[in-house]
Amino acid sequence: MKVKRIILIGPPGGGKGTQAKQLEADYGITQLSTGDILREAISSGSELGEKVKDTIEGGNLVSDEVMIGLIKERLLANESRSGFILDGFPRTISQAKALNVFLAENEMDLDAVIEINVPDELLIERITGRFSCSNCGQGYHDTFNMPKVAGICDECGGTDFTRRKDDNEETVKNRLVAYNEQTSPLISFYRKIGILSVIDGNQDIKLVTKCIKEVLDA
Ligand code: AP5
Ligand code: MG
Ligand code: ZN
Repeated sequence: MKVKRIILIGPPGGGKGTQAKQLEADYGITQLSTGDILREAISSGSELGEKVKDTIEGGNLVSDEVMIGLIKERLLANESRSGFILDGFPRTISQAKALNVFLAENEMDLDAVIEINVPDELLIERITGRFSCSNCGQGYHDTFNMPKVAGICDECGGTDFTRRKDDNEETVKNRLVAYNEQTSPLISFYRKIGILSVIDGNQDIKLVTKCIKEVLDA
């Protein structure tokens, strides 16, 4: 199968992580979630984690400098050779420009930039109902996406679940402002380059996946 390099853009709670995990399984490409990478840094107590903790817990964006350095390292790693799905990067025009330069220097083309479009008013409920498996990271939702057997992870059988510290109503409001002000301009940035596809994210999870795969397989 051809190497696929994809960017997912979408608001907090829009379904980027849910879809990226499915695409990772279906296409054998790596999900690079900058949010997950930063949260791992925080829980391991690393220097990076210390640096970004307050910013993330306040729902604000980490500096472009830190993020660009971090993603370049991941894109050069072996795990990205067979393709990648960027989930949560780029998030500003500066990040997008730096990514373009980096990809060109390394002779990597993007196959698609996919915007998962979800109206703001649905996002608070999506986020406040979210939880995930502590063992394998599989994401769930109290209403929309429960494990098949309550209390047991479908993927790994784990029985421990966690909720994110930034998943409260107050922080979500800041995250939405950050998205609308700093990230949504990327949509016209990529539309102008001619690689943007917009998917309706306000439909069943499996239907969203189907729409994304139609774009990728076209
Ligand atoms: P990040 O972890 O990327 O958070 P986010 O963008 O706010 O997005 P989420 O992970 O909350 O949502 P998602 O789109 O993945 O939704 P999910 O699939 O889980 O970033 C966190 C923080 O890190 C940022 O605030 C910032 O501080 C920092 N950061 C990260 N990258 C950065 C960067 N590049 N620059 C600067 N700072 C950066 O779905 C949500 C819920 O809804 C789940 O429960 C799911 O089961 C459910 N769901 C999913 N799809 C559907 C559907 N179709 N119908 C019903 N329910 C659904
Ligand atoms: Mg996510
Ligand atoms: Zn699990």
